[in-house]
Amino acid sequence: LDNGLGRTPQMGFNTWNHFGCNINETIIRSTVDAMIDTGLTAVGYNYINLDDCWALNRTAAGVIVADPVAFPSGIAALASYVHSKGLLFGVYSDAGTKTCAGRPGSLGYEKIDAQTYASWGVDYLKYDNCNAPADQTPMVRYPVMRDALNATGRPIFFSMCEWGDYDPAKWAAPVGNSWRTTGDVSDSWSRIITILEANEPLWKAAGPGGWNDPDMLEVGNGVLSTTEYTSHFTLWALMKAPLIIGCDVTKMTNDTLRILTNTEVIEWNQDSLGIQGHRVKRGLLSEVWMAPLANGRFAVVLFNTDPLLSAHMTVTWAELGLTAGSKYTARDVWQHKNVGLYAGTFDAQVAPKGVVAVTLVPA
Ligand code: DGJ
Repeated sequence: LDNGLGRTPQMGFNTWNHFGCNINETIIRSTVDAMIDTGLTAVGYNYINLDDCWALNRTAAGVIVADPVAFPSGIAALASYVHSKGLLFGVYSDAGTKTCAGRPGSLGYEKIDAQTYASWGVDYLKYDNCNAPADQTPMVRYPVMRDALNATGRPIFFSMCEWGDYDPAKWAAPVGNSWRTTGDVSDSWSRIITILEANEPLWKAAGPGGWNDPDMLEVGNGVLSTTEYTSHFTLWALMKAPLIIGCDVTKMTNDTLRILTNTEVIEWNQDSLGIQGHRVKRGLLSEVWMAPLANGRFAVVLFNTDPLLSAHMTVTWAELGLTAGSKYTARDVWQHKNVGLYAGTFDAQVAPKGVVAVTLVPA
């Protein structure tokens, strides 16, 4: 969507993956404080987003009202707290009669809701797709909210959440700044793999202003291993996915913080070319992914999907689409060091379910 926003994938925090409906203004304020104190905001996570369950009902005039028990100070006050810390604030609604959790939806209330958000100082809207009339497709309902947001005159990032059901990669670029391509992520390795498979083929649809959204990060939610979270984060970053943290940032382990603040991986995600990484080679239990980066560099990921055994993996310049005879310095973005000069092939030993991730820099 050409509204000036999302020129690189959005970064931030959202309540859903960790807190679900158990949200309130205290959680948001302590999240903001923790994101600043831990350095997450300094590396680019700047949107603080509410998901479902903040809204309760509407006034007689149709104005949306926040749950007064969970948000006694009101949403405008919360937005202004977020802004006072130099960050941006997002809310959630739904292109149907009710949200997925049964709160009021925006269908038929797009204009008044967009105006209300703008008056509160909202900078981002995640727009879900539950409880929609079967005869009105997302192609009809989502542009209504896009236009309502645009009419407010306030820049509001439009994050579409229709789960890929209607092939948004084919039509959503003029409608939203990002569009979900799959159902919900969960803190499960098989789910991460399923989503990777679904999001990868859509890579050509992504670019500045509009991104494929394979759903939010599960890093730090406790079920997966550090290796698995590292692979999840690396591949999401490479795919130019929105980097939306979904754990409790007030209680992160050192590994969680180390993964989420890897600026070399974040730089891949925020690269100015905005080309979504994709798979260039696949074996039985091994995959090679690649994304061109600015200044003639390439991000390369060797991904070992074997759950038990480490593997020695090799990729050739021909497989990567690089010029024969060209030389590159490989910079390992998890070890944070140059690992050698390569001409013709790159190879490395890769841990089970792990990645070796390098930036190839022209030598
Ligand atoms: C479905 C979405 O896909 C999730 O990300 C979350 O927003 C829930 N709905 C909230 O009900």
